[in-house]
Amino acid sequence: MGVVIINFKAYKEGSGERALKLCEMVQDVSAKVDDYIAVAPNFLDLPEIVSKFDIDVYAQHVDAVGFGSHTGRITAEFLKEKGAKGSLINHSERRLRLADIDFLVSKFKELGLISVVCTNNVATTAAAAALAPDYVAIEPPELIGSGIPVSKAEPEIVENSVRAAKDVNEEVKVLCGAGISKHEDYITALDLGADGVLLASGIVKAEDQRKALEELVGLR
Ligand code: G3P
Repeated sequence: MGVVIINFKAYKEGSGERALKLCEMVQDVSAKVDDYIAVAPNFLDLPEIVSKFDIDVYAQHVDAVGFGSHTGRITAEFLKEKGAKGSLINHSERRLRLADIDFLVSKFKELGLISVVCTNNVATTAAAAALAPDYVAIEPPELIGSGIPVSKAEPEIVENSVRAAKDVNEEVKVLCGAGISKHEDYITALDLGADGVLLASGIVKAEDQRKALEELVGLR
């Protein structure tokens, strides 16, 4: 089965106490399926979630700096210390420069963190794959939060991104995201060659989050 990473973004429904409830549900659903389900909560919630739940926790962002005189920054080393499994890097809502992405992918390898580099098209997916991260995650920005699934609306971008990434680096795994909410969106992504999905609103903003996640992974 596939990979499902749920980005809580800065949604109220995925912050504080509500994030803890959401993680409890994710842990519960995760135990019933073979899919790898992980979460990417707010920085402030991350350490508590790591300590309370048996699910992998990713940061939503990380800065390309080491420990030192950097105000308002988060280092890869500190994420590691706090128990994060890895981080999204270069999310379209938190873009980085190419040199920063390169720095972070290398740093993550040193630290044993999992890198998920987000991209916006086939060309940037190939460029990101050349840096040899663990994952690239293709997300057309115009479909993010739209409820229109990338795997159905733009299947060619998923298929071509998978091909472009694997041509550059066979080892890199490919996720796709934007508008994914239903089981068929997820399965279509897998059928197009993706290893899984990165999603947010379809679960976090759902009226019934458990029902939404169970439907996504085919438990209902
Ligand atoms: O990081 C996942 C995200 O950008 C996709 O958002 O709400 O379209 O699933 P959403």
